[in-house]
Amino acid sequence: MQSNIKKIGVMTSGGDAPGMNAAIRAVARACSYYNVKCVGYYRGYQGMIEGDSVELTARSVKNIVSKGGTILKSARSLEFKTKEGRKKAYENLTEEGVEAMILIGGDGTFTGGMIFSKEYDIPVIGVPGTIDNDIFGTKFTIGYDTALNTVVEAIDKIRDTASSHNRLFFVEVMGRDAGFIALNAGVGAGAEEILIPEEDLGLERLLESLQRSRRSGKSSSIVVVSEGDKIGKNVFELAEYVTENLPDYEARVSVLGHMQRGGKPTCFDRVLASRLGVKSVELILDGQTNVMVGVSDNKLLVTSIEKAVKGKHTINKELLRISDILSV
Ligand code: F6P
Repeated sequence: MQSNIKKIGVMTSGGDAPGMNAAIRAVARACSYYNVKCVGYYRGYQGMIEGDSVELTARSVKNIVSKGGTILKSARSLEFKTKEGRKKAYENLTEEGVEAMILIGGDGTFTGGMIFSKEYDIPVIGVPGTIDNDIFGTKFTIGYDTALNTVVEAIDKIRDTASSHNRLFFVEVMGRDAGFIALNAGVGAGAEEILIPEEDLGLERLLESLQRSRRSGKSSSIVVVSEGDKIGKNVFELAEYVTENLPDYEARVSVLGHMQRGGKPTCFDRVLASRLGVKSVELILDGQTNVMVGVSDNKLLVTSIEKAVKGKHTINKELLRISDILSV
């Protein structure tokens, strides 16, 4: 370890994600292991601006590895987008003696970090935490696996009632502009159709596919709709359009919403968060800055924050083909 850094700050920002607490714990414990002080900032950048912080010790992060949400709370700070806001944040860090920051969040968080570390000479390390999985430089983000399992469980339940009533269900899932949750949970739950922003299926093809399902003897169907899909209608309009054109179908809509962000993290997310959290501290102590730590092929991968923000994590389109075959 090359650096003399004695105090590291950590925060969670943007949409919360299950496993963020496991990452905070890993950061605090790695700091303790390497004899470095650790400070947690509440509500992301807003807490840095307000100097709202708490000392994190190895013991103060006990029993949080299994907890959903984030003990440091989260926010999307508008003030940090201003020069004055960032100046206040820097002054607070300096006053507190914090010499480097670990930012747990998504691309909005990393964009803020990139600007901050360019303006002020302070090392920042990104840890990808978002259920959307839409970050370049990592195969998986913290929280994504838990969200997938939550969605699959919800769709399994919807399937029971869909099948009892011979209904067609449109299930809207989160993901912002990316279809990772819809695509993977859709295949996992055996959805008949999956609508994602990366591939516009088109309304005609959707109708044809649903007609085909009927003809093949299916009495109920599930269409998973990603919130960012580009079909041109929201999930309620879509259900209406389909029932107008296919009056045989009785359709219902279920918007899963924020339940996808809650709950205990899966073992996968806990392990991922633990690995990324420890590595983020080690990167700082190795003198690195402006990088994000991710995972690929089960190995830790370090990418510049700039690339993480500007690059595009692409979905596996092969899964669409698999879904088509399996919904025959
Ligand atoms: O980025 C996580 C996410 O849950 C997205 O999937 C969703 O579009 C957005 O956050 C919702 O944000 P909010 O909780 O601010 O409504």
